[in-house]
Amino acid sequence: MEAHHTEAPAAAPTARPVVLLTGASSGIGRATAEELADLGYALVLAARRADDLRALALRLDASGGRVIAVPADVTDNASRRALVAAALAHFGRIDVLVNNAGVTVERGWWWDDPDPLRVLRVNLEAPIELTRLVLPAMRARGSGHIVNIGSVAGRAATNGLYSASKFGLRGFSLALRRELLGSGVTVSLVAPGFVRSEMTARARLPMPGPGVVARAVAAVLLRPRPETTVPGFYRPLVWLEQLFPALGDWMVQRLIWRRYDHVPRGPA
Ligand SMILES: NC(=O)c1ccc[n+]([C@@H]2O[C@H](COP(=O)([O-])OP(=O)(O)OC[C@H]3O[C@@H](n4cnc5c(N)ncnc54)[C@H](OP(=O)(O)O)[C@@H]3O)[C@@H](O)[C@H]2O)c1
Repeated sequence: MEAHHTEAPAAAPTARPVVLLTGASSGIGRATAEELADLGYALVLAARRADDLRALALRLDASGGRVIAVPADVTDNASRRALVAAALAHFGRIDVLVNNAGVTVERGWWWDDPDPLRVLRVNLEAPIELTRLVLPAMRARGSGHIVNIGSVAGRAATNGLYSASKFGLRGFSLALRRELLGSGVTVSLVAPGFVRSEMTARARLPMPGPGVVARAVAAVLLRPRPETTVPGFYRPLVWLEQLFPALGDWMVQRLIWRRYDHVPRGPA
């Protein structure tokens, strides 16, 4: 794993805060792009699906100046570096990094998946590496904000690899915030419960749309908080699960595994 401080080349500076948002091509990322564009932020949108990304950027800003699409694979070091370089080339600086791109093992058990560690690469390694790329300039300027999209599955264990990534991302976010206290750079974790997106398309649960998370991201940008869980009704559930782990066992088995056709098995 390698990262270097990328110097800003000459670029037309903007007075607007510049947000680099990963996973912008669908779900929570797309909703966050819409929300932040409405609020007047300058945006660098990243994801692999170039056509969807470009169409979104064009819809949000027909001028092409304030919202740009930069197709990128966040698991690839060269792609990450090119993404940051493109953002700097266009806007001259990055004020906010939103690490939203994420995947899960969608079907079946993670141990049956041919490459389960991709979940760690996208959900945990990529946010850490992107942070390493943008942090030196933020620290030098004495301002900046890293927003990581965690999950309720990072508090209440559900799916081995997904929870490993989101517990890890929570630890990274909360620790990094402390490491940066006094530096002018702040860190927030936004932890959603189930919301409607491509990731949850197969889950048969009542879910709000991704706008609830987009609004939470916008809120922490205005008033930074170490951590916030949305929708709010998951907050007591997380504490209940921690106080009564057996209740968590029951909830996860009944409400999540079965809803995903993920029926517990006896000995193999
Ligand atoms: N939906 C929920 O209920 C829920 C709950 C808790 C947390 N979350 C978290 O919210 C975040 C967004 O998920 P979502 O629900 O909006 O899911 P989604 O609709 O599947 O969106 C995932 C996004 O991540 C991008 N992505 C995946 N792999 C990538 C890669 N290698 N490089 C670049 N981009 C990549 C996808 O874009 P491309 O395919 O175009 O690359 C897509 O834009 C994730 O971190 C997820 O873990 C979701």
